Amino acid sequence: MPLMTTKPMFDLAYEGGFAIGAFNVNNMEITQGIVSACAAEKSPLILQISKGARKYANMRFLRHIISAAVEEHPELPIAIHLDHGDTADLAKACLNDGFTSVMIDGSHEPFEGNIKLTAEVVRMAHQAGVVVEAELGILGGIEEHVVGVKAEDVEKFLTDPEQAQDFWKRTHVDSLAIAIGTSHGAYKFKHEAKLAMGRIEQIMKTCPGLPLVMHGSSSVPQEFIDLINKYGGSMPNAKGVPEDQIYAAVTKYGVCKVNIDTDLRLALTAKIREVFATKPSEFDPRNYLGPGREAIVTMVRRKLQFLNSVGKAEAVVNQWKKLGEPMPAYYKK
Ligand code: G3H
Ligand code: 13P
Ligand code: ZN
Repeated sequence: MPLMTTKPMFDLAYEGGFAIGAFNVNNMEITQGIVSACAAEKSPLILQISKGARKYANMRFLRHIISAAVEEHPELPIAIHLDHGDTADLAKACLNDGFTSVMIDGSHEPFEGNIKLTAEVVRMAHQAGVVVEAELGILGGIEEHVVGVKAEDVEKFLTDPEQAQDFWKRTHVDSLAIAIGTSHGAYKFKHEAKLAMGRIEQIMKTCPGLPLVMHGSSSVPQEFIDLINKYGGSMPNAKGVPEDQIYAAVTKYGVCKVNIDTDLRLALTAKIREVFATKPSEFDPRNYLGPGREAIVTMVRRKLQFLNSVGKAEAVVNQWKKLGEPMPAYYKK
């Protein structure tokens, strides 16, 4: 049962020109869609759960849905990750719930506060055999800040390469989410979509060996936006990160983990809207959640191509075996 931390994954992704897709899960259909896609493409994957997902679905239900996915696909390397944990208590709860990786997001704290919070979570998680992702810099589209802000001030929101090195040395964090111009949601850019690729390069230089993470990486495919707008929705001016920029960030600059949630929501919503609009008498949830789940499979399969992670599952499992990584304390109970 290759449920693992992200270490064996990042060991290979770091030098290997591919990234691990980290997909947010909130219910059974979303989880099934993601896992089916990764099984079809033989890709390693991270299933991530936010505080909101824990509240919505109840952790007990999510845990069993994920256990079922692991059971169904014993060949797939899977990590279970807390997305944007905001307190040490939440991270601790996730250690007790069998997560293999947790994110502590102290990016809205002053630098020293972020270090203190992150270091505390790293100490606790490492004792439990769990890895930690932290965040430094402010996520947000570059252009959002450009409006009325001097060019030199835009830089302030991006991750500072020297600070990243200091942060890494003092926290011993296992991976770092960096701000390079992405933002969460479906409205990432007002004008041209543009990431600060040079920043990735600089941070790779000041922090050699530290796996970097890109949040806000949905590409907001126009086909889903068109379907949503056609069938009664209203999402004007939605815009995501172009796929070629994700591909470059991964294969040329070395990003190891790419977070995607919005695109899953769009796929599910677009299909449900289509069924409701074209079959107004339909009321069997299987007949609208099913097509939604299928749309997620198709979309995630496409993503795995530009994350360049297709066919990498077996190598990751072999790396996991080679490391002889002990399972987190939770699994030894
Ligand atoms: O980064 C945020 C993720 O998309 C999770 O969103 O907090 O609404 O579950 P959520
Ligand atoms: P998107 O909103 O671009 O899907 O980003 C998701 C994310 O970063 C989750 O942490
Ligand atoms: Zn995020």
